[in-house]
Amino acid sequence: MKITTIILAAGKGTRMCSAVPKILHNIANKPLLRHVYDMGNQLENNNIKIVYGHGAEVVRETLADLRTAWIEQKQQLGTGHAVQQVSDQIADDEVVLILYGDVPLLKLSTAKSLLANVSVQSMGLLTVDLKNPAGYGRIVRNDGGQVAKIVEEKDASEIEKQIHEVNTGIMAVYGSKLKKWLGQLTNNNAQNEYYLTDVIEMAVAEGVDVVTSQPDTVEEVLGVNNRIQLAQLERFYQLEQANYLMTQGVTLKDPLRFDLRGSIDRLGQDIEIDINVILEGNISIGNNVHIGSNTVIKNSIIGDHVEILANCVIEDAKVGQGSRIGPYARLRPETILAEEVHIGNFVEIKKSSVAFGSKINHLSYIGDATVGSQVNIGAGTITCNYDGANKFRTVIEDGAFIGSDTQLVAPVVVGKNATIGAGSTITKDAPENQLTLSRVQQVSLAGWQRPSKKQED
Ligand code: UD1
Ligand code: CA
Repeated sequence: MKITTIILAAGKGTRMCSAVPKILHNIANKPLLRHVYDMGNQLENNNIKIVYGHGAEVVRETLADLRTAWIEQKQQLGTGHAVQQVSDQIADDEVVLILYGDVPLLKLSTAKSLLANVSVQSMGLLTVDLKNPAGYGRIVRNDGGQVAKIVEEKDASEIEKQIHEVNTGIMAVYGSKLKKWLGQLTNNNAQNEYYLTDVIEMAVAEGVDVVTSQPDTVEEVLGVNNRIQLAQLERFYQLEQANYLMTQGVTLKDPLRFDLRGSIDRLGQDIEIDINVILEGNISIGNNVHIGSNTVIKNSIIGDHVEILANCVIEDAKVGQGSRIGPYARLRPETILAEEVHIGNFVEIKKSSVAFGSKINHLSYIGDATVGSQVNIGAGTITCNYDGANKFRTVIEDGAFIGSDTQLVAPVVVGKNATIGAGSTITKDAPENQLTLSRVQQVSLAGWQRPSKKQED
């Protein structure tokens, strides 16, 4: 079965009160329209076409990578008018699926069951029962219970307004039929719009069965019109992801306080995640990893048996097996930690590699450095990697010991098993196995008197 999916996305989204077109607002860091596209893209034999209008330039720029035909609807004269813009690109013998750029969470399984209801003699319509159906088109059924038509709220009688089964707008229909009906739409209604929903009555008149199906959860068909609805769908989406991770063996201390804005490429066993953790981009987490509260991890690879304590920020980094990070550590892009590395509190690491078993436990900045194995870097050590114009590298070889409060002025090499005395400013290479220090000699003055407070006049 060949499918053409038409995503309607021309609307303005006035109630978002935003300079950004509605369909570019995000759920889990991904634009609403991209959510819809990604779902559609999972259907086989599917050609996606997007009808766009408001914010045309920024929409196409932001989503330039989508493999889709973009069809501009210059004036928004209704959902039927929007689909008409694609009419000449629809083949007779394919199935057309109508989706909406601001209804982001429709599931693939729901789309598939809708499509399964389509044949030359039948079409599929996705409906949902709402406690409060206000604002939606109502599904009017005949005495036999078959769908007769859809009536928009603004055109509905008082009796029709009592109907709780509403139109989601999502439908699937044979190409030849749809094209014919689109040609017959009028704007003879309360809103002077070309309603796509009028095709239902045309189908019934022609003896085409309108077969309804419903989604598993109502959130799948909810649209985003304002930021309250955006937040509601964000929380729904996050909870679904959290529930999925728990079924895969992750312990979440509170699934309501967990956010995944991206995807997990490798998910180990017995991962424990404390509250308020945010995972972004592409993440890989090994077995027996513990992630402390309030930690943000972005585009990083976390090895087995890693412990990340509270309040860490980790981005574009690799943390080797058995390492311990934090609390309050920041690993910036291109940080590569080997196995059993300890990075402690208030330590910032950037574009540096740290080899097996090394420890940087307190209050340090390590940037543009290569740190060997079994190195101990004392509290308050700073790599001075930047002279105001260029960056330079610091190399610390295996087994070195850097005393506290040391500045390593790059480019500089600290040799194997070298020791740097505390409080040193190292500007030249420190040879291996030796103690190097640069420190004013300590003196003690015998008989020195503390100043005493002057008598006031
Ligand atoms: C539509 C349905 C209604 C249904 C509801 C579900 C019609 C006539 N009514 O109503 O039965 O219950 O959706 O949410 O179809 N759009 C365009 N171009 C246009 C008009 C709309 O691209 O000219 C897009 C909008 O961007 C939006 C979608 O179509 O994503 C729906 O349009 P909207 O105006 O919100 O339709 P409703 O009046 O809510
Ligand atoms: Ca709407």
